[in-house]
Amino acid sequence: MKIIEVEDYKALTKKTSEIIIERVSQSTSLTLGLATGSTPLGVYENLREDFLNNKTSYQHVQTFNLDEYVGLHKENPNSYYYYMRENLFNHIDIPSDQIHIPNGMAEDLEIECQRYEGLIEQVGGIDLQLLGIGVNGHIGFNEPGTAFDSTTHVVKLAESTRRANSRFFHDLSEVPTHAITMGIATIMKSKQIILLVYGLKKAQILHDLMTKEINEELPASILKKHPNVTIIADAKAMSII
Ligand code: GLP
Repeated sequence: MKIIEVEDYKALTKKTSEIIIERVSQSTSLTLGLATGSTPLGVYENLREDFLNNKTSYQHVQTFNLDEYVGLHKENPNSYYYYMRENLFNHIDIPSDQIHIPNGMAEDLEIECQRYEGLIEQVGGIDLQLLGIGVNGHIGFNEPGTAFDSTTHVVKLAESTRRANSRFFHDLSEVPTHAITMGIATIMKSKQIILLVYGLKKAQILHDLMTKEINEELPASILKKHPNVTIIADAKAMSII
């Protein structure tokens, strides 16, 4: 894993969006894996701004989001579908049939997981996957203990994740108990991965990631086996490395 240390959040989002914009503008066909949470918000802001100013086109881009809550409608402001539309897709020229997010409202969630995994395979896999990390080391919604060979599946969210994410909801009881997420194996098949780690809150988990052995209790640790991972972290996240 290569680590790029940047000064602060602004620099982290600048560096990340530059990498994405370069790939988007230099390719004729590209599949991006996208993440939600607070960390990538500034990256999406930069992509919106770049589209306004430079008209970088996304007509040839497909996107696959990492995860989605089970039971939240697309119009629910806390759904990841809504988040992506508001923060990015409504502001760029990507055709809507090239946007893919797991459907957390599907009648049969198992079939939805297979459909999603199959679709990623069909397009030839993800070229560039953007990742955040949970305070417990989760990637996507792959909580500690998730099998490294897992593909897209339904997960029961850890209480710590529900608590961490409750800041976006009115209260904890509104936070869904389950989600659909790409599996660890799905993520590992991506050709290139960028892991964003920002702020003091993530300093401990970044320290653990750098020092602990690869094990399923720390889902992100598997990234050490991937041939093309770049961690972009700010000085606060790096403070106890
Ligand atoms: C959420 C998402 C993850 C994200 C993580 C960190 O639970 N499912 O994909 O990486 O939490 O979020 P944040 O960037 O808000 O710290």
